Amino acid sequence: MPGFDKYIHSDQDTHDSEVPFVHLEGVSKYFNTIEAVRDVSLTIQKGGIFGLVGSDGAGKSTLLRMIATMIRPSSGRIFIQNMDVVKQRSRIKQIIGYMPQRFGLYQDLTVQENLDFFMDIFGISGPERKHRRDRYLGFSNLLPFVDRTAGALSGGMKQKLGLACVLAHQPKLLILDEPTNGVDPVSRKEFWDILFEMKKQGMTILISTAYLDEGENCDFLALMHKARIIEATTPKAIQSHFADLEEAMIQRIQEVDKELMNDQFRI
Ligand SMILES: Nc1ncnc2c1ncn2[C@@H]1O[C@H](COP(=O)(O)OP(=O)(O)OP(=O)(O)O)[C@@H](O)[C@H]1O
Ligand SMILES: [Mg+2]
Repeated sequence: MPGFDKYIHSDQDTHDSEVPFVHLEGVSKYFNTIEAVRDVSLTIQKGGIFGLVGSDGAGKSTLLRMIATMIRPSSGRIFIQNMDVVKQRSRIKQIIGYMPQRFGLYQDLTVQENLDFFMDIFGISGPERKHRRDRYLGFSNLLPFVDRTAGALSGGMKQKLGLACVLAHQPKLLILDEPTNGVDPVSRKEFWDILFEMKKQGMTILISTAYLDEGENCDFLALMHKARIIEATTPKAIQSHFADLEEAMIQRIQEVDKELMNDQFRI
């Protein structure tokens, strides 16, 4: 199994497009003295689902926020379709949909009004607006609830509405930060069915999750711990070494903690 701090690349690299869809080179992020992300290099190919799992406070949200252009790396560079996230931020924002860990719907607005808000931002009008409304609220099974306020929706429905909102401008890259947290298993399955449909249509999806069973839905999986990517491979490869993803995660984290401890005491 590969160690951390390595250049990680997907096994699709050799037979997919020449240019990686998302590419990170030695990316780090510090908040004053807190090291939130340490020297991450990563390549994500087009059209798959890339999962990010890890311990609490590992740096998952910080990494996703940097890719989503919300915060700048302290060092290193991030490219999306060959565009630099810092220098070409506004162009990149047009092609990404980002759903943060605490996604803010307008609780007093209805389902329809929340979606309208997002469509206004992206200037979607005319027949296309109605088409997308029917399409994304349809996918989310929210059409019967268009007049219900977001505040009155169940947790799972809220997350599906959030997804419909970030899908409204049909992004090429979807970035989702623990979107199914606290959502019941049936709604989680519905949520994933939408993601599978988006993948079928060629969307690239980057998702963090606290649920390891969802890791199995991904084409590629990275494990984060203490600001580092400590493993990056396919779920299949992990399953050939371990009974399940949970065991794999626990074992790798323990190994890395031991390595870090040894490094600390090495003279
Ligand atoms: N704006 C900030 N200011 C200061 N420290 C921050 C900030 N954002 C994150 N951190 C710190 O950076 C580290 C990584 O946080 P991050 O939220 O990225 O982790 P995470 O893997 O998403 O955790 P969780 O599983 O709890 O969502 C943590 O120690 C956190 O306290
Ligand atoms: Mg987080």
